[in-house]
Amino acid sequence: MSIDPRRFRNAIGCFATGIAVVTFCPEGQEKGAEGSGPFGITVNSVTSVSLEPPLVLFCLARASRYYADVMACREFVINILAEGQQDLSARFASSATQGQWREVAAGVTAAGAPVLAGALAAITCSREVIHDGGDHGIVIGRVTALDWRPEGAPLLYYRGRYVRLDGDMQG
Ligand SMILES: Cc1cc2nc3c(=O)[nH]c(=O)nc-3n(C[C@H](O)[C@H](O)[C@H](O)COP(=O)(O)O)c2cc1C
Repeated sequence: MSIDPRRFRNAIGCFATGIAVVTFCPEGQEKGAEGSGPFGITVNSVTSVSLEPPLVLFCLARASRYYADVMACREFVINILAEGQQDLSARFASSATQGQWREVAAGVTAAGAPVLAGALAAITCSREVIHDGGDHGIVIGRVTALDWRPEGAPLLYYRGRYVRLDGDMQG
């Protein structure tokens, strides 16, 4: 049976997720140079895989203009966005080729991958393996460093829209 992609998106969109910007810096490249240097990709396909060893994954479209660059980066940072960082999500989901880092506040890891200011958490990973996932690659990283804020609300994605966490937590 063939599944219509639109209907698939509608159904899987019922699974609410957070949003992350995964950041990279190809070896030897520095922040600032247009068309090269650090880059980021908005994703909602982040999942923890294993605690021991600590592994996480995200899925990357093979059609992404960054696919080959991701293959070339040993390290990446999963920046989990906070409520109010919708502009960052939109910026790193844009196919605009220039100015991705204009007025973006960020630190960097030792390997040069940007750590976005104000994110709820930054999970630094070393690339372990990339599995085949149809029209996506399943990128698995081994966690090498962690940083998170004890408070703050996440930016969420649900049914194709950004939503806020209702303050009333249950359970
Ligand atoms: C909320 C949201 C979640 C996304 N999740 C993913 C994802 O998990 N994997 C992916 O490859 N692209 C994802 N995208 C799309 C990429 O961010 C976007 O296609 C890419 O940054 C644009 O570059 P491109 O022109 O090379 O495709 C997502 C976009 C948005 C807005």
